[in-house]
Amino acid sequence: MTLRLGVVLPTYNERGNLRSMVDRLDKALAGIGWEVIVVDDNSPDGTADEARTLAQEDARVRVIQRIGRRGLSSAAIEGMCATAAPVVAVMDADHQHDPDLLPQMLAAVESGDYDLAYASRFAEGASTEAWGRPDRVKASNLANRIANKVTGVELTDPMSGYFMLPTQTLRADAHRLSGVGFKILLDILATVERPLKVKEFPLNFAARAEGESKLDRTVIFEFLVGLYDKWLGRWIPTRFALFGTIGGLGVVVHMAVLAVVLNLFGADFLVSHYPKEVAFIAGQTTAALVAMTFNFVLNNELTYADKRLRGFGPLMTGWARFALTCAFGLLANIGAATALVRLGFHAYPAALVGIVLGSVWNFALSSKFVWGK
Ligand code: GDD
Ligand code: MN
Repeated sequence: MTLRLGVVLPTYNERGNLRSMVDRLDKALAGIGWEVIVVDDNSPDGTADEARTLAQEDARVRVIQRIGRRGLSSAAIEGMCATAAPVVAVMDADHQHDPDLLPQMLAAVESGDYDLAYASRFAEGASTEAWGRPDRVKASNLANRIANKVTGVELTDPMSGYFMLPTQTLRADAHRLSGVGFKILLDILATVERPLKVKEFPLNFAARAEGESKLDRTVIFEFLVGLYDKWLGRWIPTRFALFGTIGGLGVVVHMAVLAVVLNLFGADFLVSHYPKEVAFIAGQTTAALVAMTFNFVLNNELTYADKRLRGFGPLMTGWARFALTCAFGLLANIGAATALVRLGFHAYPAALVGIVLGSVWNFALSSKFVWGK
């Protein structure tokens, strides 16, 4: 049978759902040449092993096991790029998406009348009852409104994780997709230059069969990052914006710590019985160390969430490298600012240039030296 459809199943801890999922695909796609690509991010529950077991039994099952990376969107992109089928679908592996919709979606895409077919939880005739979480429905509504603004395409459910399109459409623009977070459909709609003709299918969003959802605070954060990326990312790269924002917060932390230490040295720093310098040097040093550590932790959690250092050893090495980078960044900062002042610049603009230069230095070096590989 010729291969007509590739179905991408991004998985993270879905071991218990996989076999029944493949069974359902097999039934739903009877008479259609298909393959399924499981893209697993090295799930601790051994989903990839289960997928390989299934692949041994049925060669239409293929497995991509990614090491050291996490993310639904990027997994979906890699899966879609990995199929030779002319049409590709992405769906959840937890049975919340009904595979019986696949043949109708395929017919819509293959007819050439539509550039993309997707299943909507909020279209006429759809339901989210089994979701049993009104908070998620509400949050979803809000996210939808923002999403429609960004893409300029009015869909009832731009956050859907269940869609299908010609593989070539995806491949042509894959390198421009951000790959961050859960919002892969939104990402495609926002990235593909020409307006896509979209066919909507109402979905009865079922309850998850086994395991639990991975949509957590990090994913919501990534959603916001994704929006930023689409809006301003072209001018100020997202990572640098995050790095800079966290740096700004670091300044606030620095000042707060400095104030605390100065207070420890005496209620009023200026009339303290310690020499002024001692208090200030102690305060400035502590504040700098705390602020730098604060920056390191936040950058590790947020800016470099995808390359996060874990465990005591890597964290300590990372911290030391970050400290070293920042020390040189400070030298660059002070050097440049001083040079500008000597050239006759006012102190504040000179300081600002120093800060920007130091930040760029810190960013460039730490991205290679601390979180690079
Ligand atoms: N490879 C990989 N890596 N797969 C992942 C990851 C990851 O980091 N995180 C989640 N997945 C897989 C899950 O294993 C599942 O098959 C699918 O992606 C959806 O994840 P869920 O954790 O079940 O998401 P949900 O049900 O809470 O969220 C639903 O709504 C979102 C928007 O509101 C899904 O339909 C999402 O697709 C949708 O974006
Ligand atoms: Mn789910």
